[in-house]
Amino acid sequence: MQIVNNISEIQEWCREKKLEGKKIGLVPTMGYLHEGHLSLVREARRDCDIVVVSIFVNPAQFGAGEDYEVYPRNMERDCALLEREMVDLVFAPEVKEMYPAGYQTYVEVFGQISNKMCGASRPGHFRGVCTVVSKLFNICQPDIAYFGQKDAQQVMVLEKMVRELNFPLKIVRVPIVREEDGLAMSSRNVYLDQQQRQEALVLYKALKSAEENITQGERDTRKIKDSIEKMIKGCPQADVDYIEISDAADLADIDEIRGQVLIALAVRFGNTRLIDNLIVEV
Ligand code: PAJ
Repeated sequence: MQIVNNISEIQEWCREKKLEGKKIGLVPTMGYLHEGHLSLVREARRDCDIVVVSIFVNPAQFGAGEDYEVYPRNMERDCALLEREMVDLVFAPEVKEMYPAGYQTYVEVFGQISNKMCGASRPGHFRGVCTVVSKLFNICQPDIAYFGQKDAQQVMVLEKMVRELNFPLKIVRVPIVREEDGLAMSSRNVYLDQQQRQEALVLYKALKSAEENITQGERDTRKIKDSIEKMIKGCPQADVDYIEISDAADLADIDEIRGQVLIALAVRFGNTRLIDNLIVEV
């Protein structure tokens, strides 16, 4: 497994592989890898001749006062995990390689798909994500790029960006990987203390209970949101950022459950903001 920090080197390497007719799979990450990330890598390994994983904590997608500086990092452990998954190349650039002094080009998807939910609570976040992912696409020229359903809005924004900017690649969505007790895996889970970790189980429980209500015939999104909120507020440390039920195709607001809907939430436990979601179809 090669580890490359330099853009022109990896760009050249990927270009050669493409000329040899190899299918390239890209898995963008910010590192501190867990089984969620590794499920993306395994899917790429199944589909593609060459698997490239990027590890880059992207400052452009963190707002002021967010956790950029303290975001967990462990390059050595990440590389050992990726080596075991038979990854061909790890791209781990420095910040100044991706954003040299005077950098001024950004990619932004407008509209409700990026304005609500995480877009509303983290202004500029998706602009940072779209910018870095566009750069990674141009650098690695993947045939397929893999993203997790854990960040449901992120993958929807990126799919729209790929469609509208005509990136010649396919995005594959990979299902959420959870801990045995239901908590969605996240690099940020390490921030939780014991009580917060226990309370955080309410996220998946609330989503599953909303699904159950819908299965039993409830169609009023207001009522479903209220019952999710009530469950979460039962946890002393939980502070709700948002609870949204939207059309799963375009994130349009809906009053009534119909077709495929995305139930998504973001909740703070102390300084740690966790997200989770579920798609329900009626
Ligand atoms: P990061 O949070 O490291 O996640 C990298 C990829 O792993 C994302 O596509 C994310 O959805 C996926 N992922 C994380 N936890 C998961 C889980 N429990 N189950 C399934 N997939 C999971 O998302 C980012 O980094 C960044 O925004 C990035 C796309 C790399 C751009 O900087």
